Amino acid sequence: MILLFPSDVLRPARVDDHFAAEAAAARAAGIEVSYVDHDAMTRPGGAEQAVRRVSGSGDALYRGWMVGSARYAEFDAALRRRGVTLRTGEAHYRRAHELPGWYEALAAVTPLSVWTTEHDRAAFDRACAELGAGPAVVRDHTKSMKHHWDEAMFIPDVADRDGAWAVARRFRELRGDDLQGGFVLRRFERFVSAEVRTWWVDGVCRLTGPHPDALDGKCAAEVDLTAVEPLVAGLRLPFVTVDLALRDDGAWRVVELGDGQVSDRPRSLGAETFVGALI
Ligand SMILES: Nc1ncnc2c1ncn2[C@@H]1O[C@H](COP(=O)(O)OP(=O)(O)OP(=O)(O)O)[C@@H](O)[C@H]1O
Ligand SMILES: [Mg+2]
Repeated sequence: MILLFPSDVLRPARVDDHFAAEAAAARAAGIEVSYVDHDAMTRPGGAEQAVRRVSGSGDALYRGWMVGSARYAEFDAALRRRGVTLRTGEAHYRRAHELPGWYEALAAVTPLSVWTTEHDRAAFDRACAELGAGPAVVRDHTKSMKHHWDEAMFIPDVADRDGAWAVARRFRELRGDDLQGGFVLRRFERFVSAEVRTWWVDGVCRLTGPHPDALDGKCAAEVDLTAVEPLVAGLRLPFVTVDLALRDDGAWRVVELGDGQVSDRPRSLGAETFVGALI
């Protein structure tokens, strides 16, 4: 088993500071560690260069910065050519990383969502009609603009098409070239707890902690995974995170599912605990 981390941009023989604690914990646990070049990984056709420092062969897990599904597919292929097999193959990654990949499996436990593959107004209007009147949030297939809640995320009423489009257009503008897929429109639900990030290996929840955004680094109350567990297991994904929040009616709801390799670890979750629980 090899754990792959991004290298430091200026010192390629060293690990990116953000992942230093995890790399140290992995080495201490006797796990082989290798580095990849994240900048090269984000360039179309850059995967060969990205993995040229990877040594060893066999099963691998990546812990690093998010990349689009197409870049991940190239990364996966370049590693395979060296005899290194990511446990999360390209199809797994896409399924976890993009909302349309996991939505259907989790539809019963996550806000009602519809999406587009284009980013023009006509496509957006069709999505509005499909979701129906009422408050909503807008994001793309992988990310939101949550720090611009009023101007680029929250839509008070989808029935006000011009108002809704103003929010979606601003979202599109702020995402710029980073926009992935198309728009996702989700029914707004009232959450009353801090968000909890749960970490799953082969369909089993191995670790529960706060979401990295939690200001005090503390976790919300005990999360009830009864309804969520069989659905996540049914996705058959090797390594994912599931973020949950308590709705005002007492139901634990999935805010989003993500690939575990590129989900940020909150500092309050110690690197040794993290590596020990997951690898
Ligand atoms: N349907 C919803 N109803 C109410 N609030 C929501 C809804 N969807 C998202 N939110 C709020 O917006 C925040 C950001 O949403 P989301 O997790 O989809 O975006 P993100 O940018 O991918 O976040 P992350 O930093 O976790 O990757 C959530 O943490 C939640 O507080
Ligand atoms: Mg989120």
